[in-house]
Amino acid sequence: MLHTARAVAILLALSVAGITAAFLSLVDGVSSLGVLVSFLVAGAATYLLSFITLEFFIFREINHIHEVLHKLKKKDLSFLQEASAKDTRNPLRRINQEIFNFAGLKQREIEELKRMADFRREFLADVSHELKTPIFAAQGYIYTLLDGAADDEAVRTRFLQKAANSLDGLDVLVQDLLMLSQLETKQIRMYYSYFNLAELIRAVFDQMEGKAESQGIALRLPADFPEQLWVWADKQRIQQVITNLTSNAIKYSNDSPEGGGWVEAQVREEGDRIRVLIKDNGRGIPAEHLNRIFERFYRVEKSRAKVSGGTGLGLAIVKHILEAHKSQIDVQSEVGKGSVFSFRLKKRKDKRSRSQQTELAE
Ligand SMILES: Nc1ncnc2c1ncn2[C@@H]1O[C@H](COP(=O)(O)OP(=O)(O)OP(=O)(O)O)[C@@H](O)[C@H]1O
Ligand SMILES: [Mg+2]
Repeated sequence: MLHTARAVAILLALSVAGITAAFLSLVDGVSSLGVLVSFLVAGAATYLLSFITLEFFIFREINHIHEVLHKLKKKDLSFLQEASAKDTRNPLRRINQEIFNFAGLKQREIEELKRMADFRREFLADVSHELKTPIFAAQGYIYTLLDGAADDEAVRTRFLQKAANSLDGLDVLVQDLLMLSQLETKQIRMYYSYFNLAELIRAVFDQMEGKAESQGIALRLPADFPEQLWVWADKQRIQQVITNLTSNAIKYSNDSPEGGGWVEAQVREEGDRIRVLIKDNGRGIPAEHLNRIFERFYRVEKSRAKVSGGTGLGLAIVKHILEAHKSQIDVQSEVGKGSVFSFRLKKRKDKRSRSQQTELAE
């Protein structure tokens, strides 16, 4: 580009110097030395001016466009920050920046679309796989019955029960999926109210007592567990969060090495928040899985979880509900020792009047 600028500048300089010298030679009284000097001065001045203008204002910008196009081809978007940071009065450079920004934006959109397409493909594969399992199981029992097993009354009842269980599992899966997609697209609103969190935790524990007992797990509350603890949240959704966490703690506790598994709920005041902790002494979660268990369909041990009937959606739902409460789920876990899942909720402000207690938030 430097050569092009120089060549154009030399051509312009020669033309301007030639024309100037030609005019001067027509004027009476101008010596040939004067004509030569004016030829040289006009040529040098024109050369310098045109070279600087072409090189710094035009060719350099065109060079820049080439560089950016090259980077775009290589999917290197680092130039975006550089371009937007520069504030210039040069109109050509401003136009360039606009073009760069636009091209970069489009490139990012393309990347995002590709990422979404991959995500959709993966999600579809996971959903079909999860749906297939209970459908195949129910189908198997029903066809066996149709093939003659229905004649034996004991077999009939057992197989029908198994088919019904598979379809119940399918129902839970579809409900969970529906809820997750509604939470993600923000179609589910949180209906905030003040409620007694201590009472809610006791109710969930009462409800799950039977399931825990059948697996030899003790559900317990500390001796100083409060009677009243008012928080500001969507009661139904928080009940679901506590239920999912407790159900996991029970489910993944049953092969606790010490036997005598337990699940404990604790509450702690942290400023204007209440922290709820669900602890267990179960198998624990290896560190490398800890930040992935909140992804949908993610299970630590696929085959083992399959026996317990989990689909890997519970924690994804928990995470979304808490995010909608502008809170988050935290986890600490040690393999063979147990896990602690915890989250925080807004405490009730005492000054607030009872009439304001229930309102639609957001
Ligand atoms: N308390 C826990 N102790 C040990 N592992 C856990 C615990 N909670 C969750 N996990 C691990 O995290 C994974 C994801 O949990 P999540 O609740 O999302 O799915 P799930 O329990 O397998 O299925 P679902 O809840 O949809 O029925 C589980 O499969 C399990 O491997
Ligand atoms: Mg679960």
